[in-house]
Amino acid sequence: MNYRHAFHAGNAADCVKHAILLWLLQAMARKAKPFCVLDTHAGIGRYDLHADAALRTGEAARGILRLLDYTPEALRPYVDLVRSLGLYPGSPAIISAMLRPGDRAIACELHPDDHAILRRNFGRDPRMAVHLRDGYEAIGAFLPPPERRALILIDPPYEATDEFARLEAALRHASARFAAGVVAAWYPIKHRAPVRAFHDALRNGRLRDVVAAEFFLREPVDAARLNGCGLVVVNPPFRFEAEIPPILSALLDRLGDREPGEGTALIRLADE
Ligand SMILES: C[S@@+](CC[C@H](N)C(=O)[O-])C[C@H]1O[C@@H](n2cnc3c(N)ncnc32)[C@H](O)[C@@H]1O
Repeated sequence: MNYRHAFHAGNAADCVKHAILLWLLQAMARKAKPFCVLDTHAGIGRYDLHADAALRTGEAARGILRLLDYTPEALRPYVDLVRSLGLYPGSPAIISAMLRPGDRAIACELHPDDHAILRRNFGRDPRMAVHLRDGYEAIGAFLPPPERRALILIDPPYEATDEFARLEAALRHASARFAAGVVAAWYPIKHRAPVRAFHDALRNGRLRDVVAAEFFLREPVDAARLNGCGLVVVNPPFRFEAEIPPILSALLDRLGDREPGEGTALIRLADE
């Protein structure tokens, strides 16, 4: 496990993921009934963008710092939340900020050092359960939730060469355990072939109601670069397909460098 999110926190791909995550959490909170969030690959939860790791890559300068500098209207809820939380919020911080008194979350992190920091950051919040645990295995352990309402975020580091296949299996597993769950899974877009194969697998599988929101900084033809990213969502909440495209466009407007092939897409991979 070499991946440490502290080097990448606040980059463009993180902003895409977190802006959509916030929209999903707000959608979950539209109903009064309590919900549970399972964050399978949680990281440490909060990041100091002035720390050595972040400064070494400078990725946040081309991500969240541009949004803080000038905030398009569609991104105001996300950027206001980032501002209000102080340190740059990872997924557990965004989730914990959005939980209502009856809601709860489970955050899993497998790297022992990152888990220790995650526990230090959130262990005192009674609504947040922090586990040193394999996030894929947690899907079987924690689903279905007693609340019968859940958002599951799957955000692996893609160090393993078979991560797309593991992700697809995890989506099927989550759906088999809890068909009503809203499942969001992040993926990198470097070149087209693995993403096309992933989409095909989801199109031809037994999952119902699947959409993908995609964001391209440039043509995805260089396998060595993160050229974009996507979030596949199973059981997207009402109005996802109407309200996510303006968020993606606003992200691209601020984070894109007008390179050939930049763009956004909302793709339906399986009908309801
Ligand atoms: C992309 S980062 C997560 C970022 C976080 N979701 C966020 O948005 O702030 C992926 C994290 O997964 C952890 N990890 C890797 N393999 C794991 C596994 N099998 N189960 C749980 N965590 C894992 C890594 O240590 C890393 O902290």
